[in-house]
Amino acid sequence: MQLFRILQSQGLGSRRDCRDLIRRQHVLCDGVLVTDPEQEFDCENLRFSVDGQAYRYRQYAYLVLHKPAGYECSRQPRDHLSVFSLLPETLLNRAVQCVGRLDQDTTGLLLFSDDGRFIHTHTSPKKQIGKTYQVTCKHPITPELVEQLLAGVQLHDEPAPLPARQCRALSEYRLELVINEGKYHQVKRMLAAASNRVESLHRCGIGGYVLPVDLTVGAWKWLAPDELAALKIGPENDPPPSPKS
Ligand code: URA
Repeated sequence: MQLFRILQSQGLGSRRDCRDLIRRQHVLCDGVLVTDPEQEFDCENLRFSVDGQAYRYRQYAYLVLHKPAGYECSRQPRDHLSVFSLLPETLLNRAVQCVGRLDQDTTGLLLFSDDGRFIHTHTSPKKQIGKTYQVTCKHPITPELVEQLLAGVQLHDEPAPLPARQCRALSEYRLELVINEGKYHQVKRMLAAASNRVESLHRCGIGGYVLPVDLTVGAWKWLAPDELAALKIGPENDPPPSPKS
């Protein structure tokens, strides 16, 4: 592919911007200065730098953000900051989208991608990809509450009761819940339907992938191939239970 097209595909600007960057000697490919925007390169494994900032060619962007509270999953937020303000311009230029949404006050694992098939797979309830939440409740957690959530609770506008795929108490007020769907305010509505109330909500896993402990609040990172594989589908890939605390 021609170098200016590669740069454009990686979010470095318009076609014209990318041609200019190359002509004005801002771009090295595999450590060598390139000044011809039309020079052809094999994209696979290509490493390049722009003004000293290193990049690796990626056909699609797959990344994870540790979402802080107080951020909306929207490009045009109404009342809070946007999660997109935590990403660099190159990713915004690539038009990455949130893979599912979290409420503004929910923290934890939020995926982004510009791969439509990946987004569809991870947002379709049919694919049965478990989303794991740690919930702090207003009222103590009883065995009956856990049983009720596992058996299914009826939510308004739902044709049938929605069961949790897994549910267990972590402490007197905290529980861990795995759900297949990603319906609007689902966890909050499920707890309310079971006569409790969510005080705080944190998503810690999707499929078999667990939010890395070293990804600090507000930080993002590219997903490695083994992490993408861990996002796979099905109960056999549910994350291992987290330690009680
Ligand atoms: N369920 C909710 O109620 N809120 C979220 O942010 C995610 C799941």
